[in-house]
Amino acid sequence: MESPPIFRSLRADETDLLREALLRTVRWRELEPTVTLEDLLRFEPKLGRYVDGFGRAGDLALVAEWRGSVMGIGWYRLYAEGVGGLGFVDERTPELGLAVWPEHRGKGIGTSLLDGLIENATKDGYPALSLCVSDVNLVAQKLYRSRGFSEVVHESAKIVMIRRLGD
Ligand SMILES: CC(C)(COP(=O)(O)OP(=O)(O)OC[C@H]1O[C@@H](n2cnc3c(N)ncnc32)[C@H](O)[C@@H]1OP(=O)(O)O)[C@@H](O)C(=O)NCCC(=O)NCCS
Repeated sequence: MESPPIFRSLRADETDLLREALLRTVRWRELEPTVTLEDLLRFEPKLGRYVDGFGRAGDLALVAEWRGSVMGIGWYRLYAEGVGGLGFVDERTPELGLAVWPEHRGKGIGTSLLDGLIENATKDGYPALSLCVSDVNLVAQKLYRSRGFSEVVHESAKIVMIRRLGD
C-alpha cells in the first residue's frame, strides 16, 4: 500500500455503511454471504439498536478509508437501561462494534480503529468501553485483549468484555 489509509468520522449520509458494518459483525464468519441485515433483523429486531437513528449524543463512528474505498468501521454508542445492546454494562459505558471488510483484514486496520475508539472515549471522559463477542471469535477476542479488554460475562456463547479508561 503506497499511501496510508485515512481515518475519519462517519458522515451523516453514510448510515448504510454503518448498517453494512453491523451486518459484518453479526456475520463475522462470512458463512452466509446472501444473508442481509433485513433478514437478520426479522429474527432479531433488537440488532437495530446498534445503528437506528445514529448520530444522537454519545454516538461515534470512525471509518478507515483507502483511496476512496471503505476498509472498515468502528463505532460506539450509549444505551439506556433496558434498551441496550448485547454488551450493555451501564448507561455511562458506550458499547462498541468493529468490522473490517474481509479483503482488508490482517493489515492493522482493526487495531487502529479500536485505538481510535479508545482514544475518543477517553477524551470524552467515559469510564469504560464495553462490547459483546462470540466465544468462538478468537481473532476478535485476541485483538480486544491486546488493547486491555477483559471478560466480565460469559454465557450462551457470548462474552461481554470491558476496557476501563483513564487509568
Ligand atoms: C476482528 C477484526 C475487526 C480484526 O480486524 P483486522 O484489521 O483484521 O485486525 P488487525 O489486522 O489489526 O489484527 C489484529 C490482530 O489479529 C490478528 N489477526 C488478524 N486476522 C487474523 C486471522 N485471520 N487469523 C489469526 N489472527 C489474525 C493479527 O495478527 C493481529 O494480531 P497481532 O497484533 O498479534 O499481530 C476483523 O477480523 C473483522 O472485521 N472480523 C469480522 C467482524 C468481527 O468479528 N468483529 C468483531 C465482532 S465483536
